[in-house]
Amino acid sequence: MLILTDELLISKGGMRACYRHPQNELRCAKVYRQLSEIPCMSVAKNFRILLGSRFDRFNMNVQEYRFWLRLQDDEKISSVLHHHIPHIDGLVQSNLGVALIEELFLDFDGEPSRNLKQLQGKLAKDQLLQIQKDLRVITDCVIEHAIPIYDWNPTNILVLRKHDQCAVKIADLEGEFGNKEFIKISRWNTFARRRKLRRRIDRFYAYFNNTILSQST
Ligand SMILES: Nc1ncnc2c1ncn2[C@@H]1O[C@H](COP(=O)(O)OP(=O)(O)O)[C@@H](O)[C@H]1O
Ligand SMILES: [Mg+2]
Repeated sequence: MLILTDELLISKGGMRACYRHPQNELRCAKVYRQLSEIPCMSVAKNFRILLGSRFDRFNMNVQEYRFWLRLQDDEKISSVLHHHIPHIDGLVQSNLGVALIEELFLDFDGEPSRNLKQLQGKLAKDQLLQIQKDLRVITDCVIEHAIPIYDWNPTNILVLRKHDQCAVKIADLEGEFGNKEFIKISRWNTFARRRKLRRRIDRFYAYFNNTILSQST
């Protein structure tokens, strides 16, 4: 069993925590966060985590791995996206529940790459313009192929910093699992899915342009 300790913790998202892999410095392990430590948790979120820890069908890590395998199978999609998403090795049992083992994105100094939220106010304008260009390639591909990546949140966008260059990586691949519609129209109807994706992506770019870009160094 994989043993994950506090010293290995890299970062926490709304639902999961990301740890360095104890035996492989190029890999990380993502597990559900403990229910007790998530602030301001809604009943719905509580319920999702409880269900996910008991049944594969509702487990975010299991769903993310299946979604990633589907993306890999599509040559047109993977030829664009594989530069921007982690390689996923699979699932293992850990002391904190089912863990998703994936490529750990690292900066030139060997530190884990940080997300756009963590880097807000710390990037130069030309770095941000380069990030925006990379993001366009990813979001164009997502819209063209109606790929269900709905959560366009700055915490899900990692910026891998090489000396004078930046590369964009998408850390969080929930797929249809991230679709919170009561009746999941976007799951079955490509037109509705694409419309939803456009809306979410436009909202993200508005935030990127008005907030992140305006705080360049
Ligand atoms: N492959 C990775 N390499 C480096 N950091 C990562 C990686 N995956 C996730 N992270 C970090 O962990 C945080 C939480 O992961 P995420 O998958 O977004 O969790 P959640 O599903 O709870 O939103 C991210 O915001 C990011 O900072
Ligand atoms: Mg996330």
